[in-house]
Amino acid sequence: ETEWLRRLAAAPDLATLEAIVKTCHRCPLRAGCTQVVFGEGHPRAALMLVGEGPGQVEDETGRPFVGPAGQLLDRMLAAIGLARQDVYIANVVKCRPPHNRVPTPEEAAACWPNLRRQIELVRPRIILCLGATAARQLVEPRASVSAMRGRWWVRDGVRYLVTFHPAALLRDPSKKRLAWQDLQMVRQALDEGAEA
Ligand code: URA
Repeated sequence: ETEWLRRLAAAPDLATLEAIVKTCHRCPLRAGCTQVVFGEGHPRAALMLVGEGPGQVEDETGRPFVGPAGQLLDRMLAAIGLARQDVYIANVVKCRPPHNRVPTPEEAAACWPNLRRQIELVRPRIILCLGATAARQLVEPRASVSAMRGRWWVRDGVRYLVTFHPAALLRDPSKKRLAWQDLQMVRQALDEGAEA
């Protein structure tokens, strides 16, 4: 454990970190997936998005949010004038859980140093948590999206907003109105930061 943390801390940039994380076998997920989906995007993005974990298309392609949920995410970003390359996109776990089940707390904990170092290197001002898995890892361990969304949370000088996972919006489109409200909060916060 200490040795892994030391290696992550020594990674000076995202490319080096990605090479290290691609060798990760710290939880059983790696044995059951095709490849590690590290994350991608603007290396100094003001806005970072964190999802849950790779799905089938992500596992096949090695890229985050490129399946059906990813296509909705692209439209959500476009709604506030952003393209994928403007933001950084990552997940709580980098390896696809079997049948897309929610990662266990042990799996999320095993992958947490990888995500934490990724956040340290990108240094976003704002982190948008997509769904409960990200919200629980980054903001409040036991809360629900409905209870957490709609307001800012601050942890170590970073502002967090929680919203519905795009896959949840695909299952229940009636939540989209609230998700779009959350996106407007992100847009406003980005604009305020641009003036500062
Ligand atoms: N769902 C996620 O949480 N992350 C992805 O990368 C794709 C789908």
